[in-house]
Amino acid sequence: MKKINIAIDGYSSTGKSTLAKALAKELEYTYIDSGAMYRCVTLYAMREGLIRKDAIDKDGIVEALGEIDIDFVNENGDNLTRLNGEVVESEIRKMEVSSLVSPVSKIKEVRETLRKLQQKAANSGGIVMDGRDIGSAVLPGAELKIFMTADSEVRASRRYNELKAKGVDVSREEVAENLKTRDELDTGRKENPLIQVSDARLLDNTCLSTEKQLEIALSWAKDAIESRK
Ligand code: DC
Repeated sequence: MKKINIAIDGYSSTGKSTLAKALAKELEYTYIDSGAMYRCVTLYAMREGLIRKDAIDKDGIVEALGEIDIDFVNENGDNLTRLNGEVVESEIRKMEVSSLVSPVSKIKEVRETLRKLQQKAANSGGIVMDGRDIGSAVLPGAELKIFMTADSEVRASRRYNELKAKGVDVSREEVAENLKTRDELDTGRKENPLIQVSDARLLDNTCLSTEKQLEIALSWAKDAIESRK
């Protein structure tokens, strides 16, 4: 069976990665978390003192891009993100990174560099990639494009519970505010903003279980694979 590429885009905390991982597992495809790549650049910039709450050294970040190596390793079924060989999976999920990642992902050169890496990874097919611009800019030729959305209150609650379960000390208001800000920045930026492309299938999962979402996405994937044969 021919392997296709699947692009999953959508707002923050709509369950893109949960669906993408499950879909990749079912189809025996490779999952690529493009948001983790933007988070890695942000973490690197923070560690190097190139970014603080109120100021971003854009030129410094662009210059540092050549020093940043990002890859993913699979450990016991878990997809772990590595920054220059170091597993940074939990660090890149922290609120500090979440609140700085959108301004970093606005930088044109950052987007160009990561886009090339993402396209290279998807060259041979068999990829499920999630993010904000996958269907529109990274993999416009993907055979299946899914756009995910959900009610903002539901998203905030899901994210808050997720962070609490991980032991992160955060308030629900902080989480809701971060999601709102990221939605605005992701949809409002000049470079490859988050949009639903015309050939993307809409998945509003406000009232859908993860199992139901997988069932729907799998049937779409099977259709796309069939018509590719
Ligand atoms: O998917 P995520 O929440 O981990 O992504 C973190 C941030 O990275 C998100 O707020 C916007 C940015 N991003 C992007 O601009 N383009 C992508 N393809 C993926 C993420």
